[in-house]
Amino acid sequence: MSKSTVSASANIAFIKYWGTTDLERALPCNGSISMTLSTCRSRCTVEFIAGTGVSTIHLADDDKPGSSLTEPPPRFRQRALDHLQRLQAWAQTQQHDADGHWRVVTRNSFPAAAGLASSASGFAALTLAACGALGIDPDADTRSLLARRSGSGSASRSVFGGFVEWPPPGWPGPGLGDADAEATCVARQLAPADHWDLADVIALVETGPKAVASLDGHRRASSSPHFAARQALLPARLDAVRTAVLARDLDRLGPLLEQDAIELHLIAMSSQPPIFYWQPATLAVLATVRDLRADGCSAWSTMDAGANVHVICAADDADRVAATLAQVDGVHQVLRDRVGDGPRVEAESFF
Ligand code: DP6
Repeated sequence: MSKSTVSASANIAFIKYWGTTDLERALPCNGSISMTLSTCRSRCTVEFIAGTGVSTIHLADDDKPGSSLTEPPPRFRQRALDHLQRLQAWAQTQQHDADGHWRVVTRNSFPAAAGLASSASGFAALTLAACGALGIDPDADTRSLLARRSGSGSASRSVFGGFVEWPPPGWPGPGLGDADAEATCVARQLAPADHWDLADVIALVETGPKAVASLDGHRRASSSPHFAARQALLPARLDAVRTAVLARDLDRLGPLLEQDAIELHLIAMSSQPPIFYWQPATLAVLATVRDLRADGCSAWSTMDAGANVHVICAADDADRVAATLAQVDGVHQVLRDRVGDGPRVEAESFF
């Protein structure tokens, strides 16, 4: 049948998704706001083949057609196969002929061992390429919904470029039944990439896979005594971050995004059992970013469920920030990225 290749970027959240009411379908306890990146991308070719057969998923070693292939980690393989099955079942509900199996080859542009670890770009690209292979072109809400149902909630934001908000189920108010609240829990674009030229300078301090998956972090989050306190103050913080993004006000946005990241880690560290994502070099980078600010540079730190630090700054300051971070003991590599346009259909496929 047909084949489709799509690339999608990772995103970095200014307000983090941390804690779910339904882990399998990634229904968040709170809204989140993120910036879609440009060069940290996943590219994925999906072929849908009619009839019975065994679905295969491989990782490509480079971007060229005919690249050598390797087996993916078993956990990713199983999540991806489950998601493809889910998409097939959904397509059948839309009266599409979806009787068949899959061939998938995918690749991340960022170092696999970098511990960046967001599966957002991978599952956004897989979702959109699978829809393409089935001959379906879903609307924006449905793209986000299907990506979210992969279980990687942040993938629901990576189907858009620019600045993106993902509200919790039931938003904007009560009155929706459970099924409708699930089906309308989708992200939306707040502003396109050309709204604001922000950079994300990433200090890699960890090269292995993270010790505890985000899914376990979500599962444990509400066991922290600080979880409820963060939930209570998030609506006001989300309003303030949305306003700062729309006003392109980095001095307003920066303290809020840094505070929110620290609180995610406070919750992780005080969950039962606790999760310590930070390494000593994480703290060294945080101190260096404070020094940069004391020296007049508006640069702000955020960390996902890992030890690496994303430093958000104006694109014009990215050279200075990258050069400074490269000097910090324990920083193995500095990656440079910026706000990006979101997914695109690629002309060249892996096979
Ligand atoms: C800390 O469940 O979406 O990055 O498994 O990496 O896709 P992945 O994680 P997911 O949780 C993301 C958690 C976070 C915060 C965020 O991106 O909002």
